[in-house]
Amino acid sequence: MLLSPSILSADFSALFEDIKKIEEGGADYIHVDVMDGHFVPNISFGAPVMKSLNGKTKLPYDVHLMIENPEKYIKDFVTDNTAFITVHQEACSDLGAVLELIRSYGIKAGVSIKPGTPTSVLEGFFDKVDLILIMSVEPGFGGQKFMEDQLYKAVELSALKKEMGYDYVIEMDGGIDLTNVERVLSSGVEMVVAGSAVYGASDVPERVREFKKYR
Ligand code: DX5
Ligand code: ZN
Repeated sequence: MLLSPSILSADFSALFEDIKKIEEGGADYIHVDVMDGHFVPNISFGAPVMKSLNGKTKLPYDVHLMIENPEKYIKDFVTDNTAFITVHQEACSDLGAVLELIRSYGIKAGVSIKPGTPTSVLEGFFDKVDLILIMSVEPGFGGQKFMEDQLYKAVELSALKKEMGYDYVIEMDGGIDLTNVERVLSSGVEMVVAGSAVYGASDVPERVREFKKYR
């Protein structure tokens, strides 16, 4: 499994130290939750905060844009560390064009769907995305309760991936902790986001190692 701890739950006044902790534990990515107060009812932080880590970490960025008109801001998130930029299907009037724009910078393109959005809206894009992010809470806040009823989407996307030979990574985000991560992975999720379950631990590197024990 790939673990992408969300810095939304980190201590912003000690961001560098908090990044070092997940690096030490063996995290695979840094999940960067960007919220605009329009697409979701909360504002988090923007590209300058993410860029303040440039050159200070070797972990790649897994950027999750919960913003309207993402095409206007993609370029701001392009850095040497940026591995994935994920936009919301619900925020895009021309999803294909946004995915192409992300890829034009040499960055992997992801699409995310909210709990109320079925996977069928992604028809026609399965061979054009590098990652599909299934939200297992309503986007906007860390620390919410995991929605079990979203697991079927991972099962569907995983079966489709095998059947059709697609190569998107299946990621899930929201409310994942050590009590449900096993079910998440066995449903077909390959990349796990965890915010409060990682940064709420008294020993953050050890918590990352506990997650990484799951295959
Ligand atoms: C929710 C964010 C998530 C969130 C995860 O809108 O996209 O990445 O920070 O935090 P936890 O793991 O606490 O639900
Ligand atoms: Zn997220």
